[in-house]
Amino acid sequence: MGLRNRLEAKDGTGRQTAGANVAHWRARLLEEINLDDLAALDLTQRRARLEKVVGHILTREGPVLSTRERAVLIRRIVDEALGLGVLEPLLADPTVTEIMVNGPDDIYIERAGNLTRLDVGFASEGQLHQTIDRIVAQVNRRVDESSPMVDARLPTGERVNVIVPPLSLVGPVMTIRRFPRAYQMHELVSRGSLDGPTAELLSAFVRARLNMVVTGGTGSGKTTFLNALSGFVPSTERIVTIEDSAELQLQQEHVVRLESRPPNIEGEGAVTIRDLVRNSLRMRPDRIIVGEVRGAETLDMLQAMNTGHDGSLVTVHANSAEDAVYRLETLASMSEVKIPYEAVRDQIANAVDVIIFLERAADGSRRVKEIEVITSGRREDIRLTGIMRFEQEPVGGDRVVRGTFAHSPLPRELADRLLLGGEPIPPMFGVRAGNGSAP
Ligand SMILES: Nc1ncnc2c1ncn2[C@@H]1O[C@H](COP(=O)(O)OP(=O)(O)O)[C@@H](O)[C@H]1O
Ligand SMILES: [Mg+2]
Repeated sequence: MGLRNRLEAKDGTGRQTAGANVAHWRARLLEEINLDDLAALDLTQRRARLEKVVGHILTREGPVLSTRERAVLIRRIVDEALGLGVLEPLLADPTVTEIMVNGPDDIYIERAGNLTRLDVGFASEGQLHQTIDRIVAQVNRRVDESSPMVDARLPTGERVNVIVPPLSLVGPVMTIRRFPRAYQMHELVSRGSLDGPTAELLSAFVRARLNMVVTGGTGSGKTTFLNALSGFVPSTERIVTIEDSAELQLQQEHVVRLESRPPNIEGEGAVTIRDLVRNSLRMRPDRIIVGEVRGAETLDMLQAMNTGHDGSLVTVHANSAEDAVYRLETLASMSEVKIPYEAVRDQIANAVDVIIFLERAADGSRRVKEIEVITSGRREDIRLTGIMRFEQEPVGGDRVVRGTFAHSPLPRELADRLLLGGEPIPPMFGVRAGNGSAP
């Protein structure tokens, strides 16, 4: 059986054989090139150089191949030589938003919100291990039995999580998350994630310095939405952003970006989101934007919102706007400052003005599902008033999610705040009738 047949085989054995051959040619390649020369080149030049050399080697020593097979083989050899094996072309493809490696033979990617299983894999578990080592070594981290979980960000912005046996039962598992694309709000409107009037209202909210919480499940688009919302912050303001792994891409000039730091291998030197929130208060911020609250920093954030740092934006993981309130309560009570439940609730009621809940629908599309305003007074249970919701239609044969955005009038107090700030209110959010002081 020639290499031709082996390359075409797509089952596990075919992959193994082709993989072994790739390893052979890769070894030949490494014999022929001068690694010092290579070091001076950037990635594109390096790839071009390697492809040329592999081409020569194959012409001299390789089997007879069609032009296409030859190109595929060259690409695989170079991918492996460059270090990331089958991941290399995936990382080079901007439409791939997430790469999930569940052991050497099981790779999934996410594109346009949809998961697909690939029919390529690593030649062996050892090779996957090597690839993972190379990736985490770039950021001076290490993964082995004594530190079997690593969370890191690559120099190119991707976020990488690795978990290896014995914690993972399927071999080394690596999840690579692309640096999300920065959408502007009008782009999210044209993608149908929200409608124009709602975007207009949200821009008025940001300018009027309401404190807003963006919430939703993992991958629902919270960071993306937070980024788009931040686009409405006037460029005259000083913005401090605080994140676990810097993903936000603000357009304004005057932005100070802070990123937390995990502990080093000895377990020391960690700087938490909470440390950064506290520090940011001494930096004369006009706005504090926190990528995501996950712990005790929530209380510091709420206190900051209540003490003159209006207009703050934050995301929290939750399954509805109401759930976001419970999450904030739970997270705020994780602080070592023991404050009674009622006090936490009052902090939230006073601090948070608006909750925006995002949803990733079954077809992979992301949308604003509901916007709720906190309307409770002091010493009351938290009361939410909906001002916008997406009403989904029954899904048809094409499985595309459709529906309409339904608007409700703004609560009087909120409308007054906007009007006092000189902000227009889009007509469909016109103030509730019979609510006291209608003109
Ligand atoms: N409204 C949207 N339309 C299309 N793609 C989106 C939208 N919001 C987010 N995405 C994409 O979905 C992925 C997850 O988004 P992200 O903002 O990181 O989610 P989260 O912060 O909730 O985990 C990213 O690849 C991002 O580009
Ligand atoms: Mg996020």
